[in-house]
Amino acid sequence: MKSATKPANGHTNGAVEARPVTVPDFLSARARGVRLTMLTAYDYITARLLDRAGVDGILVGDSLGMVVQGNADSLSVTLDEMIYHTRITARGIQRSLLVADMPFMSFQVSPQQALENAGRLMKEGGAHAVKLEGGARSAATIAAISQADIPVMAHVGLTPQSVRRLGGFRVQRDEGRLLEDALAVEKAGAFAVVLECVPTEVAEKITAAVQIPTIGIGAGAGCDGQVLVTPDMLGLFDKLQPRFVKQYADLGEQIVEAVKAYCREVKEGTFPGPKHGFR
Ligand code: KIV
Repeated sequence: MKSATKPANGHTNGAVEARPVTVPDFLSARARGVRLTMLTAYDYITARLLDRAGVDGILVGDSLGMVVQGNADSLSVTLDEMIYHTRITARGIQRSLLVADMPFMSFQVSPQQALENAGRLMKEGGAHAVKLEGGARSAATIAAISQADIPVMAHVGLTPQSVRRLGGFRVQRDEGRLLEDALAVEKAGAFAVVLECVPTEVAEKITAAVQIPTIGIGAGAGCDGQVLVTPDMLGLFDKLQPRFVKQYADLGEQIVEAVKAYCREVKEGTFPGPKHGFR
C-alpha cells in the first residue's frame, strides 16, 4: 500500500528528513510504499521554497523555454542556458534530488555528444542527474550516459521536443510502443521514467511492467510519482492550461493585486511610511 505522506528518503513519521534524497531513494521508493513528488524550478528563490516544502525531486525542465523565456515551445533552449538555470537552482537546494533536462539537439547527435553534455550539466550546473526525451530511440544514449555514472531519468509518451513531428502537444495512445519504450529505457539503465500525456490505464500497465519508478504528468494516479510545471500549478502561467494540471494557488492574481497596491500607495504618498525610513 502506497503512502502519500512519506518522503522519498525514508522518514516514517511524516516529517521531512534533512538528509538529501538520492537516486537509490528513488529506486527503492516503490518497495517502501512511498510516492515520489517532483516539481520544476528554474532559479534559486523557487528552488529554496520547493526544497523547504519537502519535494523529493526538482527538475530544471526545458519547459523554461515557455514559462521563463516566453517561447511557444522548448526547441530553442540551449545547453548553456540549461547549465545557467541548473547552477542557480542548485544553490537553493539542500535536500531534493536535482535533475536537469537535456535540451533539444544536446543529445540527439550521438551518444558521445550526449555524454559530454550530460557531464557539463553535472560539473558546471551541479545537477545530480539528467533527463532526456525518447524511448527505444534514446536507449544507446541513456546507456552511454549512465555507464559513466551519470544517473538518467528517461521521458516517454508526449515528448515536447518532438512537437514538430507530432504536430502539437497531444496525448500518446500507442500502448505497444509506449510499453516498448519504457522497457527499453529501463534496460538501458535509466533510474526513473517520466510518462507524459499517456492514458491512465496504459501508465498503470507500464508501471506494473517496469521496476524503475514511473513519474507521471497527465498519466493518472497509477504512477509511482508525479511531476508538474511549477508556474502552472501555482497559477503563474496562464498561456497554456493543460487539463492534467491542478492549480494549487493563484499566485499570478496575488502578484497583480500586490503590485497594484504598491503603485497606488506610491502615487498616493502612503508608501514609504515613517517605519520604512531612517532618522
Ligand atoms: O521540461 C519539463 O518541465 C518537463 C516536465 C514537463 C516533465 O519535461
